[in-house]
Amino acid sequence: MTRLALFLTMVATIFFSVAACADSDKDTTAALLQGGEQCETILQTSCVQCHQLARICQKVGDKDKKSWLRTISRMVNKGARLSNEEQAVLADCLASQAEGVKKACK
Ligand code: HEC
Repeated sequence: MTRLALFLTMVATIFFSVAACADSDKDTTAALLQGGEQCETILQTSCVQCHQLARICQKVGDKDKKSWLRTISRMVNKGARLSNEEQAVLADCLASQAEGVKKACK
């Protein structure tokens, strides 16, 4: 009986450490998504209705974050659909030439 309890404790310990690992994996993925793929997705879903990505890509490197925010809000006025948060994230990515921007512009 004690052995069984010990065994169960071990199983529980292993189970919880695996679960903890899975959790920290999720955090890493979320961080990667933030910096990279989220911007790729935003570009490909919210910025291609009216013109090609090339129109945006040729300006990458020219504009700073403030200038991108201005451009993006001009696009929103024309009808682009992005949340405020997406606008801020995208301006960040475009200004810093994040991985997701490079991928979208390849
Ligand atoms: C509703 C249509 C529409 C959508 C959606 C749209 N744009 Fe535009 N965009 C335009 C039009 C029209 C022009 C050309 C006229 C102008 O520059 O105002 C343009 C021009 C541009 C230019 C070149 C001019 C400049 O200021 O450098 C950039 C860069 C640009 N868009 C970025 C974006 C980004 C980033 C997105 C996604 C957040 C986006 N656009 C989504 C309509 C749109």
